[in-house]
Amino acid sequence: MDKRIVIFALIYISCGSDQPKRSGAAAGGTLQPDGMAVFRQRCVVCHGADGTLGLNGAKDLTQSATPLEERIQIITNGKKLMTPFGTILSPEEIKAVAEYTLTLKK
Ligand code: HEC
Repeated sequence: MDKRIVIFALIYISCGSDQPKRSGAAAGGTLQPDGMAVFRQRCVVCHGADGTLGLNGAKDLTQSATPLEERIQIITNGKKLMTPFGTILSPEEIKAVAEYTLTLKK
């Protein structure tokens, strides 16, 4: 009987932990989207985890001097081969991930 409860608890925990990640909400219950999580999920395919990959003509984000507002524009509307994320991410997520890309700058 005890064993079953433990197994159930483990299944519950492992399923439950997937959901907050999708919405980008941190485990602490804040509603602030996690820019790094969004980047890891949506952007690394072209930009790489550290921003330098440059696939599909992507800019090296460690060398970019583009200001925040323009980054938000590019992420929302796309540019050349970059996917527009305006319909995929919320404005809050776009702002959070744009701010995260600024931290990649060397
Ligand atoms: C399909 C590949 C692809 C994906 C996915 C992608 N990008 Fe890009 N990104 C590009 C390309 C290509 C450019 C260069 C556009 C140009 O020619 O100016 C770019 C440019 C940028 C720039 C502007 C850099 C500069 O200084 O001009 C930012 C910021 C950026 N991407 C952030 C992101 C973020 C954040 C994500 C995820 C939400 C993302 N990108 C996903 C391909 C991609």
